[in-house]
Amino acid sequence: MLLNVEHLYKYFNGQALLKDINFTVEDREAVGLIGINGCGKSTLLNIITGSEGYDKTTEGLGSVNIAGKASIGFLRQNSGLNSELTIGEEMKNAFAPLLETLDKMKVLEKKMADGGDIDSISHEYAELSSYFEARDGYRIDVKIKQVLNGMGFGSTPTDRVISTLSGGEKTRLALAKLLLEEPNLLILDEPTNHLDFETLMWLEDYLKGYK
Ligand SMILES: Nc1ncnc2c1ncn2[C@@H]1O[C@H](COP(=O)(O)OP(=O)(O)OP(=O)(O)O)[C@@H](O)[C@H]1O
Ligand SMILES: [Mg+2]
Repeated sequence: MLLNVEHLYKYFNGQALLKDINFTVEDREAVGLIGINGCGKSTLLNIITGSEGYDKTTEGLGSVNIAGKASIGFLRQNSGLNSELTIGEEMKNAFAPLLETLDKMKVLEKKMADGGDIDSISHEYAELSSYFEARDGYRIDVKIKQVLNGMGFGSTPTDRVISTLSGGEKTRLALAKLLLEEPNLLILDEPTNHLDFETLMWLEDYLKGYK
């Protein structure tokens, strides 16, 4: 189980928008949430991701349970990145923990070269490097390129500052970053709103292979 929602209620102005919502999302499951404008889809996703609260009522003591180790990636409806970073810098941020590991490895390499205690250093180095390899650290640049190409940024210079992109481009880039982070649970609120047909097909394909 990745996510479990039970007896969830949400009221606005005394009216129940969400009424006794119950569902479970399992590992590797893909779920589509379909409904007319205003029926409460975004509200439900905001509640799951913790950016909005829900109501405990006499009818139900609602709960939202997320598996302890699960990471969640959330693309909000109509919200792209708004950043003074460049495209390349923002994409690299998706790999922050890995790049920190790489920095630590470089420090240890230097210590070894400077004649530090090889035994203790090499033990720590081996741990860092196996973490780095297990998470595909040597393929960061390839992955970034692959996703940027797929999202239609193949011919955009990666030193372009994000705040200069159009609204639709920002949404596409936010999606690209989210895909690179590979969260256990990927929640996308109308991600295709700004996508052209070609990018849409690419996204469909990519998601089919997503764990
Ligand atoms: N803070 C709020 N206060 C009052 N009403 C709200 C609030 N937030 C959302 N609503 C109302 O709740 C309803 C559901 O909104 P929500 O954004 O969840 O719909 P949706 O299903 O995502 O719609 P769409 O398909 O247009 O994205 C709407 O009628 C909206 O106006
Ligand atoms: Mg919505």
